Amino acid sequence: MCATAPQETLLLRQIATADALACHALSCAVNWPHRAEDWEMVIGLGHGVVVTLGEEIVATALWWPYGESHATLGMIIVSPAHQGGGIGKRLMQALFVQAQGRSLMLNATAAGEPLYAKLGFVPCGEVQQHQGETPAIAAPVLQAGMSLRLGRRADLVLLERIDRQATGLARKPMLEVLLACGECIVLERNGQPEGFSILRRFGRGLVVGPVVAATRDDAQILIAHWLHEQRGQFLRVDIQVDSGLADWLTECGLNPAGAVTSMVLGNKPNPVGPMCLYALANQALG
Ligand SMILES: CC(C)(COP(=O)(O)OP(=O)(O)OC[C@H]1O[C@@H](n2cnc3c(N)ncnc32)[C@H](O)[C@@H]1OP(=O)(O)O)[C@@H](O)C(=O)NCCC(=O)NCCS
Repeated sequence: MCATAPQETLLLRQIATADALACHALSCAVNWPHRAEDWEMVIGLGHGVVVTLGEEIVATALWWPYGESHATLGMIIVSPAHQGGGIGKRLMQALFVQAQGRSLMLNATAAGEPLYAKLGFVPCGEVQQHQGETPAIAAPVLQAGMSLRLGRRADLVLLERIDRQATGLARKPMLEVLLACGECIVLERNGQPEGFSILRRFGRGLVVGPVVAATRDDAQILIAHWLHEQRGQFLRVDIQVDSGLADWLTECGLNPAGAVTSMVLGNKPNPVGPMCLYALANQALG
């Protein structure tokens, strides 16, 4: 029998939520922990492209707008069989067109950093991943006047305001989705909100992020609450490397599990404070 099947070609098209399962197969091929549900969430929140070869998705790249001036890029993957052939660069060019002049931020793996550097991205920070099975941790001790309460959808405007102080970004759509699929706690002092953290299912277990607080001690309280509640669960936190939380997390049994380089093309956002972003929602969303 002679083979007369037509030669399949690589095609670039818009990503859709229905691609989540095929994207999941691709991220498994590069040993990323995302579940199909994690893909559904990030596709639903953003925009992007896939490269197909027949029925197979062989490359992905997404971006998420935060207002008109900034966006983050992520989930940039080329299947191992097709790496080194210019697809990564082609994906990035497609995102540049779609993101229309926004300043762009991403967290680069060691594999991705040379590609982004060639495209003009410059390093601006480092994110350290910590993870592990949470041992028994005491509930955080709260000082007089301090309290923790559940955050709800009705808190969205409040959370967006303090998140914007920490990031300089308009991330309401992302916070809305995280509130819907996760659990949120708000730290208050004398009835005034002074930080929050969100726990949700992700990858191999659970992730705590974002963690927004005015001080490192407050950030610790907002993480310790979940460590205490989720004893024995696999839990991940992606911290800014200058957050001062690394040693404490390691003592809590969440060991360092790799780092990525934060990079920007254009202007970094300009957070006004006093809140700081201590842990990311995840490496893609920032
Ligand atoms: C990073 C990744 C997306 C790059 O995709 P790719 O299709 O292999 O990249 P390209 O072939 O388009 O390379 C584009 C340019 O970057 C350069 N480049 C890519 N990877 C490189 C590396 N590891 N070291 C040095 N240069 C590299 C290429 O030489 C090329 O430069 P040129 O245009 O001047 O020739 C791909 O390797 C990948 O999916 N890795 C695993 C998942 C991952 O880590 N993704 C990044 C997440 S932030």
